[in-house]
Amino acid sequence: MTIVALIVAAGRGTRLGGEVAKQYLKLQGEAILTHTVRAILPHVDAVRVVIRPQDMALYRAATCGFDLGDPIIGGDTRSASVRAGLEALEPLAPTHVLIHDAARPFVTPEIIGGVIAGLQTSTGACPCLPVVDALWSDGFSGSVPREGLLRAQTPQGFSFPAILKAHRENTADLADDVAVARAAGLDVLATQGDEDNFKITTPADLARAEGKTGMDPRNG
Ligand code: CTP
Ligand code: MG
Repeated sequence: MTIVALIVAAGRGTRLGGEVAKQYLKLQGEAILTHTVRAILPHVDAVRVVIRPQDMALYRAATCGFDLGDPIIGGDTRSASVRAGLEALEPLAPTHVLIHDAARPFVTPEIIGGVIAGLQTSTGACPCLPVVDALWSDGFSGSVPREGLLRAQTPQGFSFPAILKAHRENTADLADDVAVARAAGLDVLATQGDEDNFKITTPADLARAEGKTGMDPRNG
């Protein structure tokens, strides 16, 4: 297996707000992206990061301690950023790719190991958690059964040739790469997710991340 991690960091963090895209806010004195790269690097053969062109200086500062090579320029949607990243990885010809959100800095060795183990037997693997809250639609008119529902996290791992082909054939803006894989008929195995592997999306998530590290990222 040759495994490359593709970290997508080309979003602008609209829901969190602020001048600087969320992946460059600091936790414990280091950019969220720095934490994410450090968490994943020991488990893979190489890491490449997808960024916005205007964030080049922030990217350099966040990754200067690592030997990652040039970043890849992303697109207007997450799907477009992943697709650009996969195209850029093609010359490396990895057997597998782990596609991970820069905004999930608390990914653990257990989650990554579970996904890689899943790829021994499945074309795709995705860390998942069950839904625990009651679900309702249309202002409490319809109760939605939660049995069988999964919350998908990242890293989502795939056979590299299979997910590259799936992305080339499907340029819709889908929620994640499992959606692209399933639309192409690929098998995806659910592996163990972790509540701590949350995506920093809203100000409340940022406060939760600060609580885990004991630091205010705005003063980092
Ligand atoms: N992402 C990306 N390219 C995009 C959009 C998102 O690489 N055009 C990345 C983000 O940088 C993030 C991950 O995809 O690491 C998950 O996306 P999300 O949490 O939605 O981040 P943003 O799109 O930046 O935030 P928002 O939707 O609130 O604007
Ligand atoms: Mg987004």
